[in-house]
Amino acid sequence: MEIKYISENKKQFLDLLLLGDESEDMIDLYLNRGDMFALYDGNLKAVCVVTQEDNTTCELKNIAVYEQFQKQGYGAALMHYITEYYKGKYETMILGTGDVPSILSFYKKCGFELSHRIKNFFTDNYDHPMFEEGVQLIDMVYLKKSLK
Ligand SMILES: CC(C)(COP(=O)(O)OP(=O)(O)OC[C@H]1O[C@@H](n2cnc3c(N)ncnc32)[C@H](O)[C@@H]1OP(=O)(O)O)[C@@H](O)C(=O)NCCC(=O)NCCS
Repeated sequence: MEIKYISENKKQFLDLLLLGDESEDMIDLYLNRGDMFALYDGNLKAVCVVTQEDNTTCELKNIAVYEQFQKQGYGAALMHYITEYYKGKYETMILGTGDVPSILSFYKKCGFELSHRIKNFFTDNYDHPMFEEGVQLIDMVYLKKSLK
């Protein structure tokens, strides 16, 4: 398994990025300023993007594993790698996600805990209703993890 830092041509990973964030307009808002990492195991399996939010906080904006390779440890491996990568650079990693039990369970297994919630984020910021596993996304749930 190899994890590469991607500095150029980040849009080549758009198919994967759209699994984690279905709006290309939203992706464009953070892709250039974000650090991108791609995980290869033979071929490409997963990507993620992390931005600097302030001097002490970074934010995981997107993480996605190709559907046929999910639940095989790639997401956790990428998460472990970026946690180590940012230790000493920031104090906290945050992320925002839909209120979806399976996704929350993945992040909790990766060491994240509940931070706060932004009411009606998905209904206010997207032009169409969004569903994940049959549940409409309404609030954005913020999670945090200490990097100390
Ligand atoms: C969420 C995602 C990145 C997880 O990556 P993954 O490679 O499938 O997860 P892993 O195999 O590394 O799982 C790590 C742990 O989380 C758990 N987990 C992963 N997906 C889960 C799910 N859908 N439901 C419940 N638990 C889950 C695993 O069981 C595992 O726990 P274990 O160590 O006790 O076995 C991946 O499923 C994905 O790309 N989903 C689509 C994109 C997406 O929703 N991204 C998040 C945007 S907010």
